[in-house]
Amino acid sequence: MEATAPKRKEPRKPLRIKVISMGNAEVGKSCIIKRYCEKRFVPKYLATIGIDYGVTKVQIRDREIKVNIFDMAGHPFFYEVRNEFYKDTQGVILVYDVGQKESFDALDSWLAEMKQELGPHGNMDNVVFVVCANKIDCTKHRSVDESEGRLWAESRGFLYFETSAQTGEGINEMFQTFYSAIIDLCDNGGKRPPSSVGVSFTKEQADAIRRIRNSKDSWDMLGVKPGATRDEVNKAYRKLAVLLHPDKCVAPGSEDAFKAVVNARTALLKNIK
Ligand code: GTP
Ligand code: MG
Repeated sequence: MEATAPKRKEPRKPLRIKVISMGNAEVGKSCIIKRYCEKRFVPKYLATIGIDYGVTKVQIRDREIKVNIFDMAGHPFFYEVRNEFYKDTQGVILVYDVGQKESFDALDSWLAEMKQELGPHGNMDNVVFVVCANKIDCTKHRSVDESEGRLWAESRGFLYFETSAQTGEGINEMFQTFYSAIIDLCDNGGKRPPSSVGVSFTKEQADAIRRIRNSKDSWDMLGVKPGATRDEVNKAYRKLAVLLHPDKCVAPGSEDAFKAVVNARTALLKNIK
């Protein structure tokens, strides 16, 4: 009797993926990539001219992946060079500098630029985005805190990492999670798997946290007119308390927003007869 040899598992073909970096000039895009690929940091600023291209091979879980990285120049001058490279991308590394608020505020315009270049048939839903809040080693100059960055990223279904290309903090974890999410996307036929799409808080909660964070005084924070009555203050407070109570809301920054609302109500009621 012929013995049947156990079937040998065919090694899976390496996965080929394309990744791009995006974000304002000087936020650290090239340094993040260099830190991961070459394990080193260059303190001197060498602006990327147009695009830098590189290929790396990495092993993630049981898969070998070949990554084509297109590291884009952030300077507006290079728009004409960049715009051809947005298509057929599986992953985007979106970077801002935590000490430069403008670079955080610019994230929306980077998404808009990509959307415009992909055209009406391009689909950004099936791209994995990771947001890197970079230069966290410069703690003295920090102007965008973690909850603000995390809220922006997670409310869009993006990954979020705090990184420092200088110390290496967060870099490996960021790339591992990012590549892992891209493998899941490719295994799911190029569509973001349903499990990774779900955002665990509502847009209403995210908007309320942002509004509270940017409010100019206690009236504004509760969303009532200056001179509102006790009833109006209490009504507005209850609405926000239900929306943002830490037992119910997991959105980044909700705990601080909830505390701020409690304090605003107390301060207002003290002065209203
Ligand atoms: P463009 O190519 O012009 O778009 O800039 P970029 O985003 O690629 O910036 P790059 O990586 O060249 O870094 C800009 C400057 O920031 C350099 O002087 C880096 O040394 C510095 N830098 C980058 N990452 C960090 C970081 O995590 N911490 C600190 N302290 N400096 C950093
Ligand atoms: Mg660069």
